[in-house]
Amino acid sequence: DIFETMASQTPVQRDVIIAIDFGTTYSGFGYVFLNASQNHIYVFQKWGRGQGMGYGKTPTALLLTEKGEFHKFGHAAVETYGKQAMSKKDCKKLLYFDKFKLLLHSKKDLNERTEVKARNGKKWLALDVFAKCLEYLKKTATDVVNERHLRSEKDNPNTEVMYKPEQIQWVITIPAIWRISAKEFMRKAAYKAGIASPEDPDQLILALEPEAASYYCRKLPFDMFKGQKGKELVKDTLDMEKVPYMVVDNGGGTLDITVHEVNADDGHIMEKHCPSGGTFGGIHVDQEFEQLMIKAFGDDFIRRFQEQFPNDWQVIMNRFEEQKRAEEEVDNDEISIALPLNFIKSCHHDIEEDDDAINERIRRSCPENVSVSSDYLNITMGMLGNLHRPIVTKIAEKMKSLLAKQSLQDVKTIFLVGGFSEAQFLRREISRCFPDKRILIPPDPQLAIIRGAVEFAQEPSLLRARVMGKTYGLNTCIVFDPEKHPLEKRLVSREKVYCRDIFKTLAKKGERIDIDEKRTYNFFPINPDSTALSFKFYSTDEDEADFISDPGVVSENVEILIPSPNTAKGCDRELRVEVKFGGTETNVQVIDVESGNIKMVCLQLVSTSLIHSRFY
Ligand SMILES: Nc1ncnc2c1ncn2[C@@H]1O[C@H](COP(=O)(O)OP(=O)(O)OP(=O)(O)O)[C@@H](O)[C@H]1O
Ligand SMILES: [Mg+2]
Repeated sequence: DIFETMASQTPVQRDVIIAIDFGTTYSGFGYVFLNASQNHIYVFQKWGRGQGMGYGKTPTALLLTEKGEFHKFGHAAVETYGKQAMSKKDCKKLLYFDKFKLLLHSKKDLNERTEVKARNGKKWLALDVFAKCLEYLKKTATDVVNERHLRSEKDNPNTEVMYKPEQIQWVITIPAIWRISAKEFMRKAAYKAGIASPEDPDQLILALEPEAASYYCRKLPFDMFKGQKGKELVKDTLDMEKVPYMVVDNGGGTLDITVHEVNADDGHIMEKHCPSGGTFGGIHVDQEFEQLMIKAFGDDFIRRFQEQFPNDWQVIMNRFEEQKRAEEEVDNDEISIALPLNFIKSCHHDIEEDDDAINERIRRSCPENVSVSSDYLNITMGMLGNLHRPIVTKIAEKMKSLLAKQSLQDVKTIFLVGGFSEAQFLRREISRCFPDKRILIPPDPQLAIIRGAVEFAQEPSLLRARVMGKTYGLNTCIVFDPEKHPLEKRLVSREKVYCRDIFKTLAKKGERIDIDEKRTYNFFPINPDSTALSFKFYSTDEDEADFISDPGVVSENVEILIPSPNTAKGCDRELRVEVKFGGTETNVQVIDVESGNIKMVCLQLVSTSLIHSRFY
């Protein structure tokens, strides 16, 4: 399981960029033709057309057959799964997955064998679930791009009508706060889906979501943002003001914040603060809604219903998802959710005979806020606000604590992007908390990430430097020093005495690193016969660490595996490792000093079967 490729020779010329925004709740894609007369960025906006809809993103929901073959994705998956409601037999068989992207953030020991649970409780390989979704998105995007290309062929009479796979530059967006293993996992899933390959890794760029959005927002004139006036470009004002600006991506699963500043000399963008945030997304409102249902109808009843009619429960959640977008004070004091037949039947069977009696029951636990009338569940707008409050408060607090930092005192502008930035309750709270900031919400905040990701791929080096969010290191050995090193770390190999578990610092928390900066380290094997050497990445939130066993040091769950088949020189084999930390991903190259061969080394997700070789 060693992987290696020769360093890329000449960069391949691509003809079209396709960016996929693979979201926790919704996914979509956009594209640009690189040789067209106009540099127009298209976003596919016809999702759900098979269901009579037309959206810019489609639910990140996957339906597989019992055997795990692809069945449906997106709106179609949601609809098909919901419709199974009547046939209990079938609905138990199909494998329905949604909101699984959160796994990549939460799972610390993520690897190729990590599993996700389908709605029916059956476990499935997460890598396969991600790959199947990406494969569908890839196919749809390629078809759409080719179709558009065909139509505009008269503009480019000399080009081929269908793009060859290698003509496409792929971009996939990922949360900026993801750890190295999550990024690697996404790349692995993309390869599995046929998007780029280990032989041509550059064909796929991973773009950081808030960063991508900032590319898009900067280029717009002020009057494109909600409630703003003026034709001048935001970018010109930001360049002139020379103070940092904050980008807040309020997604379904993640809150993802970055702070940028513009370099006065050359106009490049630099990270002012490392990405921060957490799992504070729009789906928390759905979770609050579920809690409300439990309060209103009783824990037993809801749990039983979810188990008996998982598809109907999904239908209720889907309807809440639509209804929670209702604007306030537009001929409404409540939202109404049509309840599936099975829910009503169960209610009448398990709880009370008629609506009045059910309402009586509800009133005891949720006074005045929730009611049932014929087959609708009604929730007051006040209550809808309450469902938003906990998560919106957390988001505002997170922003406040960041803005309180000395280095961010002069932030003047805050961009709000991501679908959850549409929520009026969120916008109102942010405006209330930050009255002295310029709050800019682009026209379609949910699509800002897609558009920006396309722009990012066109000009990745506009952003020159990033700030490390943690201190990163590799595990190595050094010559044992009895004065400094604890005895339990002593290791003897071939008559030499080493200290093991050293945390070899590669990059420090808070340090600003240029995107092209290479850090070089030389290593030698401890065992003269090792033909493959492995380094594991560790990180800490502290500024430094001595040993990988220090408190606060955690494994990043990725390793560098270096093949070194020629063992003739034994322990004198010098291996030069070059690490680039400033990119969106951690990039590693290894030079076998003896032969001068340069090898790009893939980062590996750490799984159980490991070759352990030591170095110093
Ligand atoms: N008007 C609205 N009111 C409340 N919530 C909304 C509104 N519009 C969208 N949302 C929520 O925003 C979220 C979708 O946003 P977005 O598409 O940016 O997320 P994502 O890309 O799927 O997630 P992530 O970026 O975290 O992976 C959903 O949770 C959705 O319910
Ligand atoms: Mg998103």
